[in-house]
This record gives sequence, structure tokens and C-alpha cells, in this order.
Amino acid sequence: MTTKLFRNARINTPVSNSSRTAEKKGSYSISFWECGAVLVKNGLIERIGDETEVLKGLSHKQVDQEITCEGRCLVPGFVDPHTHMCFSSPREAEFSKRLAGTPYLEMLKAGGGILSSVRSVRESTDEVLLGATRKNVMTALLHGTTTVEIKSGYGLDTKSEIRMLKVIEQIGRETPLDIVSTFMGAHAVPMEYKGDSDGYVDLIVNEMIPAVSRECGSAFCDVFCEEGVFSVPQSRRILLAAKEHGMASKIHADEVNDTGGAALAAEIGAVSAEHLLATNDTNLAAMAKAGVIAVLLPATAYSLRKPPANARRMMELGLTVALSTDCNPGSSFTQSMPFVFSLAVMNMMMTVNEALAACTLNAARAIRMDSIVGSLEKRKYADFLILDGETPAILAYQTGVPPIYSIFKRGECMADCFQERRTVR
Ligand code: NIG
Ligand code: FE
Repeated sequence: MTTKLFRNARINTPVSNSSRTAEKKGSYSISFWECGAVLVKNGLIERIGDETEVLKGLSHKQVDQEITCEGRCLVPGFVDPHTHMCFSSPREAEFSKRLAGTPYLEMLKAGGGILSSVRSVRESTDEVLLGATRKNVMTALLHGTTTVEIKSGYGLDTKSEIRMLKVIEQIGRETPLDIVSTFMGAHAVPMEYKGDSDGYVDLIVNEMIPAVSRECGSAFCDVFCEEGVFSVPQSRRILLAAKEHGMASKIHADEVNDTGGAALAAEIGAVSAEHLLATNDTNLAAMAKAGVIAVLLPATAYSLRKPPANARRMMELGLTVALSTDCNPGSSFTQSMPFVFSLAVMNMMMTVNEALAACTLNAARAIRMDSIVGSLEKRKYADFLILDGETPAILAYQTGVPPIYSIFKRGECMADCFQERRTVR
């Protein structure tokens, strides 16, 4: 039993009961205390609010450790709801080719892109895959991410997909972060099924999904619904089969072309649709009506040299917007939520409060973790960041570095000040 008291903090947190009407106007409900305190007991938030209120009736004997935040801003730990952090090696040479003008999907068509990561995952030992994944996850933690979703999708056969999901689960046990795994056998059509994507869909539906549901704890199934990858009917078939096995749906929708991925998300009641760079208003409105969360990935648009998704329009249409890194070796090689935060504010015209809600509570909603993380409220995990500034605006203002003073996961200090960060591995 440890009890910690965090004092003199400028606390900024979204709150769970914010009404959708408030979100519609883009004015997310953020609680703010100028001189706030948090009382943490066994990793959970016991009390939070104005310091004088939190201290009421509290004796010194009840507190094991007192930490002053010296007026710094305290926000929830980031939740990164869409990543492909389990891969064995980056694709730097391919990035140079993209810079020279080769389009992303053309590389995939030629057997590169996602398929080159598939080759390296299949060829690598467990040790290499574990090591590379651990490195990505710990880098994310040092940039303030305390909960992360990680997809499979570089195995693309039953054995290799399960191996990836087991690696993701092992990293979840080994590292302090909460990790949610998503099965993404439908990330690309593997070489051995070239020209027979329906045959590969059969394999996913008849063999992979039942095996994954038997052997792994994946809560979600995701599909790359895109021209030349998986069609809307194929994506529907996969996601409905996964649903029967208890996996909720996510869709990589309309990233490069508008193929109707967003409409499919609305039709089948997906938890979220991601990317949405090419989606039309009608399908976005259908998503809003069905309560599908829009997960936007501005670091991917940045890396593909494309304009980011139209977050303002989506919020006008009533969508709940979340933000994510999409960390992967191809289209977005970053583990940094502060980078995503700053892109959202500077390039997508999101307000600081909207970006804060999108990187925390809405992101937690997109992976159904919002009952325990994503906001600082009584009985939720004490996952928070002390920023090296007075307001969350520092996350957009100080560019290119994470302006984070210290990081707490379930009340435990993960990294403290700049020098000591290096000691956390
Ligand atoms: O979300 N678009 C599909 N999947 C990833 C990229 C994966 C890769 O290139 O390795 C994405 O952008
Ligand atoms: Fe992705």
C-alpha cells in the first residue's frame, strides 16, 4: 500500500461525462485546476481537484510520499490507439525511394512496402522481434505514451500472425505500459497469394480468425481497405467473421483513395475508422451517426507529404476525433505523441484542448480502454505526465522535443527530468 500526494500542479484533463453536444461544437470538456493536487493510492487516483479540497481531512501519516509539481502542468498520459510497433527492422532505403518520387502503394504492388516488413518479420528470430518491439514501446513511453495499441499484420500467415500477437502480449507483460493487441492479418495480400486475394481472405476467415481467437487475447480486428489491397466486400467478410469470434472492428479507411471504407465502418458499427484522408462528407456523416470514432494520423500524412485529414470538418459533423502516431516502418516512423499533438494544433487547426482530448480520452475510447485510462478521474489509473510548462500548449509550442518533465504510470515514476530519462530502459 503506497500513497503519494502530488501538489501544486496545473491540472488539465478531459472528463468522461462530457456530452457529445459539447464535442460537436469542438469545445471538449476539460477540467482545470490552477493549484491542483492528486492523491494516488496503489496506482489509482483516490482524490483529484483543487489542492485545498484534496488536502481536507488528510493527515501526514496517510501519505508515504509528497511530490511538488512546482506549478507545472499535469495531463493524462497519452494513449496511442493505432500503431504497427511490432516489426523487426525499419525501411530507410524505401523512404529515400519515396522521397525520390515512388508512390507508397506502388512500392507495395512491386512486393516492397508492407511486404518487405513481412519478409523481415518471418526471417527474424523471436529475440530480434521482441527487441525491436520493446525499443519502440519504450521510446513511446519516454515520449509520454502510457497505453498503446499494437497491430499484427507483418506475418500474413497463421503461424506468423500468432507469433506477432504473442510477442505483443509478451511486451505488454514485460513493460510498464498497458498494451492492447489488434489482429491485422488483412494488412496486405502476401506474395504466396498474389493474384488470389479472395483465396487469402478465405484463409483469414477459415483459419486465422478462429486460431487467433483461440490462442491470443486480441480485442480488435483491423483491415486495410484500399484500392489494390482489400475491397469493401472482402473487408466486410473479414470483419463480420472476426466479430463472430468476439473481435470488434477497426478499418484503415480511405487513406489513399475513397473506396467506401468509412461507409463500411458505419454499416457494421466499427469502433473506429482510421486515416480518412480521402473520405467524403456523406460517409463521414454516416460514421458520426453510427458513433464510429475517427482516428486521425497526421504523422502519416506528413510522411506521405499529403494534406492532413480535415479534423475541423469531422468535428462539425459530430464525430469524436482521436489522434495517433500510426508508428510503422513505412508511412510513419515515429513513436512521438507530442509530435502528433503539435501537427494537430499547427497543421489541422485543432485547439489545444481538442488535441489534448484526442490524444488521451478519445484515444482511449477508440480502444475501449476509457473506463480505466485516458482521463484523470477517481478510480482510474494514475497515468499522467508533468509537463515542462504551465499549460498543455507547451506540447505544440516547444517543437521537436517532448516537453515532458516526468512520466508516471500507475503512480510509479517512469522517467524524471531530462538527464534521468536515459536510465529508463
Ligand atoms: O497505417 N496503410 C497501411 N498500414 C500502415 C502502413 C504500414 C507499413 O507501411 O508498413 C498505415 O499507414
Ligand atoms: Fe496503420
